[in-house]
Amino acid sequence: MKKTIFALGLLTAAWSAHAADPELAKAVIKEKCQLCHGAEGEASSAIYPRLAGQNHNYLVKQLKNFRDGKRKSDTMNEMTKDLLDEEIEALAKYFSSKPALSHRIRDKGFFAVGEYLYMKGNKYSGIPACKSCHGEFGLGSNDLPRLAGQHKRYVADQLHAFGDRIRTNDNTIMHTIANKLTELEIEALALYVSGIKAQEPEAPKAVEQQQP
Ligand code: HEC
Ligand code: HEC
Repeated sequence: MKKTIFALGLLTAAWSAHAADPELAKAVIKEKCQLCHGAEGEASSAIYPRLAGQNHNYLVKQLKNFRDGKRKSDTMNEMTKDLLDEEIEALAKYFSSKPALSHRIRDKGFFAVGEYLYMKGNKYSGIPACKSCHGEFGLGSNDLPRLAGQHKRYVADQLHAFGDRIRTNDNTIMHTIANKLTELEIEALALYVSGIKAQEPEAPKAVEQQQP
């Protein structure tokens, strides 16, 4: 009998912990994250990354890497130092379920330069196509970051950080790519990914016309 009650108690505890996930995330965000990343991960300024729609496993990895100092950041190492694994899990689940946003692009010519590099790379300097890992629409995968709609400034900062070996938690994959990128390529790529629309995969293909 005692055993049954104990088992029931465990079950309810497990159930309520599960049900409380979004509440747990919201409480942590309000106290520690909202100021910079916004209540739903929309980010309050271009230097803070958008977290809304970012991929779950990628978020978990980054938060743990910040916490144990593998990814260096004056701000984020401090912000994550007391986070529990279950809080990290709840935060990743919360932000990954929020709708992603994208930026309106004015400079269409420069956007096209970024699009070319993203889709094809630069064979003259040995840069692979970004789409081969981050996907045709910049959505990444569960373990790889989504780039679509991210702030341009943040993306450019990260490309510099990879290139200069300031950010090393990617196991050198991005370093070999980023240290070959020119300033123009970094800016064009950052502009391009910031403008990839969240709804792109479902959007109907444009009808192409024959050249006269
Ligand atoms: C004072 C502003 C500030 C606060 C508060 C803050 N962050 Fe950050 N966050 C940043 C900055 C700046 C970066 C960019 C990291 C860097 O230095 O490379 C970042 C990066 C991140 C990233 C990496 C995103 C990516 O695409 O790789 C995640 C995830 C993140 N923050 C989550 C959080 C969470 C969760 C909290 C609350 C526990 C939080 N942040 C609190 C400023 C902040
Ligand atoms: C061979 C696979 C691969 C290719 C090709 C690749 N990336 Fe990455 N990218 C990664 C990995 C892996 C990470 C980091 C994941 C981690 O930290 O766990 C990453 C991270 C990033 C980040 C950081 C995102 C964030 O939220 O902080 C940016 C920005 C980025 N890549 C841009 C690019 C661009 C632009 C290109 C094309 C020039 C490119 N990547 C090509 C694998 C790749």
